[in-house]
Amino acid sequence: MAFLSASKRKAISIYAGRESAKNDSMHRMPHLRQTAVLAARIALIEGADAEACWAAGMLHDIKKRASGDHGAKGAEAAATFLESIGLPPRFVETVRDGILFHNKGFRRGPLERQILWDADKLPILRPAGFKSRMLPYWTSRLGRKKGAEQAIREYRFFRPGLHTKTAIRLMRVDSKKMEKLASSLAGNCTDGRKRRKSNAHL
Ligand SMILES: [Fe+2]
Repeated sequence: MAFLSASKRKAISIYAGRESAKNDSMHRMPHLRQTAVLAARIALIEGADAEACWAAGMLHDIKKRASGDHGAKGAEAAATFLESIGLPPRFVETVRDGILFHNKGFRRGPLERQILWDADKLPILRPAGFKSRMLPYWTSRLGRKKGAEQAIREYRFFRPGLHTKTAIRLMRVDSKKMEKLASSLAGNCTDGRKRRKSNAHL
């Protein structure tokens, strides 16, 4: 059943934009929009609730800056907001559940929960998203080498965790290119360490 009118979608977008404005650069509106569109796309293919997946994608990082568990805090804030604009309890609960678990490792659960997790992680597991988001995010915090090492660690951590066949299929489209990129970055990090080590003997 369709619950999201154009005005409700607009209200959700405005709320998400306001709440995420002060997030770090990796977790602002472009990321929320991309997650929402991808979640809805996966949901349509997998036969899940595409509207709830879209709303969960838009709202999943609204409490990213909060201390503690941003999934739990974001889930409650999103549920309160969605109730306030008149969305029904079942819809609100689906969104709340997805957001609550999007920052936790899990293996089973409702399909919409799995889809939000996949849509959130999939772009950074592919070359374009890895280079434009994951790598700059970590290198700006940890410096070029340690940042690259951390980005590769996260890539290797999240990659086997995708749940849906659709997300796994999309990830495989350019997985060889991605593996090549990760290996070459890892090689650069190791070369740097070897160079530093050999310099130490000079
Ligand atoms: Fe996210």
